[in-house]
Amino acid sequence: MAPLWYKNALFYELPVRAFYDSNGDGHGDLAGVTRKLDYLQALGVDCLWLPPIYPSPLLDGGYDIADYYGIHPDFGTMADFKQLLTEAKRRGLRVIADLVLNHTSASHPWFQAARADRASPYRDYYVWNDTDQRYQAARIIFLDTETSNWAWDQTAGQYYWHRFYSSQPDLNYDNPAVQAEMLNVLKFWLDQGLDGFRCDAVPYLIEREGTNCENLPETHKFIKTVRNFVETHYPDCVLLAEANQWPHDLRPYFGDNDEFHMAFHFPVMPRIFMALGRGDASALIEILKATPAIPPENQWCTFLRNHDELTLEMVTDAERLWMWRRYAPEPRMRLNLGIRRRLAPLLGGDARQLELANALLFALPGTPIFYYGDEIGMGDNIWLPDRDGLRTPFQWDAGPNAGFSSAAPEQLYAPVVAEGPFSYQRVNLAAQLADSQSLWHRLRRLVTVRKAQPVFGCGEYEFLPLAGAQVFGLARRHAGEVVVALHNLTAEPQRVEIDPSQTPCLASWQGASAHDLVAERAAGQLRPTLTQTLGPYSYCWLKLEKDGAGPP
Ligand code: GLC
Repeated sequence: MAPLWYKNALFYELPVRAFYDSNGDGHGDLAGVTRKLDYLQALGVDCLWLPPIYPSPLLDGGYDIADYYGIHPDFGTMADFKQLLTEAKRRGLRVIADLVLNHTSASHPWFQAARADRASPYRDYYVWNDTDQRYQAARIIFLDTETSNWAWDQTAGQYYWHRFYSSQPDLNYDNPAVQAEMLNVLKFWLDQGLDGFRCDAVPYLIEREGTNCENLPETHKFIKTVRNFVETHYPDCVLLAEANQWPHDLRPYFGDNDEFHMAFHFPVMPRIFMALGRGDASALIEILKATPAIPPENQWCTFLRNHDELTLEMVTDAERLWMWRRYAPEPRMRLNLGIRRRLAPLLGGDARQLELANALLFALPGTPIFYYGDEIGMGDNIWLPDRDGLRTPFQWDAGPNAGFSSAAPEQLYAPVVAEGPFSYQRVNLAAQLADSQSLWHRLRRLVTVRKAQPVFGCGEYEFLPLAGAQVFGLARRHAGEVVVALHNLTAEPQRVEIDPSQTPCLASWQGASAHDLVAERAAGQLRPTLTQTLGPYSYCWLKLEKDGAGPP
């Protein structure tokens, strides 16, 4: 396997339930994903992330696991899972799955045994207390539904600790037996051939009085144990952290490349929306400047949207208010500290802004991940409960049930988006494949260009000193190659001047020619400076060529 394969890759978040229903029961399933692998390959995807596929009462989208060693019957069987891995590997695609470390479902047999009997060996798998007054400095995450991180259990006669829904009791990582159980879970799935994990909710594993119970040293210690185990037995596998934290709290999750290989860059995400909504890159530049360097083997994972609300935890109060006013004008669009909308509705369905948002994402340091359906600009349904409106069936075509399932519409796990500008009759893959100018084709092109230029996945970056913040410009550099990426965040044309004498990493490129990688055209020379005019919400990625001979 290629070393550091995850650095120059495209990831794709694929909720199995929502993708394709192969047996007509109204639920997407693993066999459905297998059938659509050619599609994912055509898009240029390198690695799939499957949110939880395990047996679960599904009170939190499967993040409430009732059995770590099985497949939810709605999604198929272990044989289907293995078939998916085999077919994926055959196409050079990797697959990672969610590993939910922090909690189980209350219906998990461990919790059932724990609550029923104080003497049970499973009692100490969870965090119990006689009062609900411990760890008061820990915040509540699901603010709209939970009033405390403690819940009273009548059968147990004690309170139990939970950071998410009360139907998801937290595991007790001070108990070595819990740590050993989780290593077994990891081993079981990696032995099936999985390529790694997206590790859910990692900051919250350990509780300590007098702290906010996040990012504690003992949590990092356990992560190092996990990494060491993976490194020893499965060296090509990747561990991706979900830690919704500020950059200085995120940095330790890489350790000395002895914790996670990758981590989502949560604070960057809302600032991409701020940059677009304000026509000003300042907040984005500021957070990148505040982001510490990471070991060369490690990588950020950058994203625009995922299966959760667009979280606004890593912004200031004023920024959150601004984001809500700009992107969630209806109260129903808000959830907890975030916004339950998809990418295309957030950007008003504007094709230029959708392409620009992705271009910007792709130009940033890190590995980008698509959220299923965003490659065609799917819409949402804010009237469904919780985050369900972001998880509606993939819109394959304009046929019945958007081509997702042959079941009767009322049997679908969720209704397809059938009204308004994002209805499946208007927004669907078949129509976009047939139109060479569609969002899908434009994004497909971006994916190809990005993957052909290792500067994006592996290179360093430097901000261009431009006259204003209306254009977000950065130079990416790797192995003697340079790409200058310019993004106009405004609805007006913008003129920018690139001056190599003002940009250290361009200093030796005086006289070089610029080749526009996306438009595939010559774009002038750095003699002594290079001026570019960018149309409204447009961008260009310029590869510099020293011999002045144009494209390679
Ligand atoms: C993560 C998941 C989210 C889930 C939560 C609790 O944040 O992304 O969907 O609700 O963990 O498991």
